[in-house]
Amino acid sequence: MWHFRLWDVQDVAVFLSITLYMCHLAEAISIHSPQRSLTRSVQEDVFFSVDVTCNGIPTIQWTFMSGVVSRSIGIWQPGMYTNVTADYSSRVQAYSNGSMGLSDLRIQDAGYYVITVIETGGSSKDTGFVLKVNEVLYEDLQYLSVSALALACLAALLMLTMWLLDKAYRKIMAWRRRRQMPENDATELQPL
Ligand SMILES: *[C@@H]1O[C@H](CO)[C@@H](O)[C@H](O)[C@H]1NC(C)=O
Ligand SMILES: *[C@@H]1O[C@H](CO)[C@@H](O)[C@H](O)[C@H]1NC(C)=O
Repeated sequence: MWHFRLWDVQDVAVFLSITLYMCHLAEAISIHSPQRSLTRSVQEDVFFSVDVTCNGIPTIQWTFMSGVVSRSIGIWQPGMYTNVTADYSSRVQAYSNGSMGLSDLRIQDAGYYVITVIETGGSSKDTGFVLKVNEVLYEDLQYLSVSALALACLAALLMLTMWLLDKAYRKIMAWRRRRQMPENDATELQPL
């Protein structure tokens, strides 16, 4: 009995040390990020700043999530390779500390951005960012409607001026014709 007990204790110790070792492995990855929630406007750029440390060279993977959509953005190993998905290739900048820059934001870019760091040993850790993208449409529309109103007023003013000028011209012509008519008649009639 006592003998078996002893073995149990040893098993538990081995199990515990393995668990601790694995915890230590998992903790070897650290993802430090100063800001996890970002707000930008359409056409602006965003920089997801992280500093990744782990044993060996980390594999960094960024994924975009919004509602039911889950899309891979890119995967890279600092100094080894950078593989950015075709949809993002022109807008994504990969950094060796794990950070990612995304330029020329669109409304559809709003959502969750998850960075997954995979160690050479296979263990991984991830951290999420929230990105809000604001439309600048309201201000644009206000500006446009004010401009349109100003243009319409200007056009109306021009039309009114033209109409008045036309009227005045006709009046003057009529008055001149009326004034010249008798004289002309007189001068033309004189020789006869
Ligand atoms: C990661 O690297 C970029 C570029 O070198 C730097 O701008 C950024 O601050 C770094 N991020 C952190 C959290 O250190
Ligand atoms: C980059 O990703 C694509 C799609 O996931 C894959 O087919 C390709 O082999 C990858 N290239 C490298 C160099 O990892």
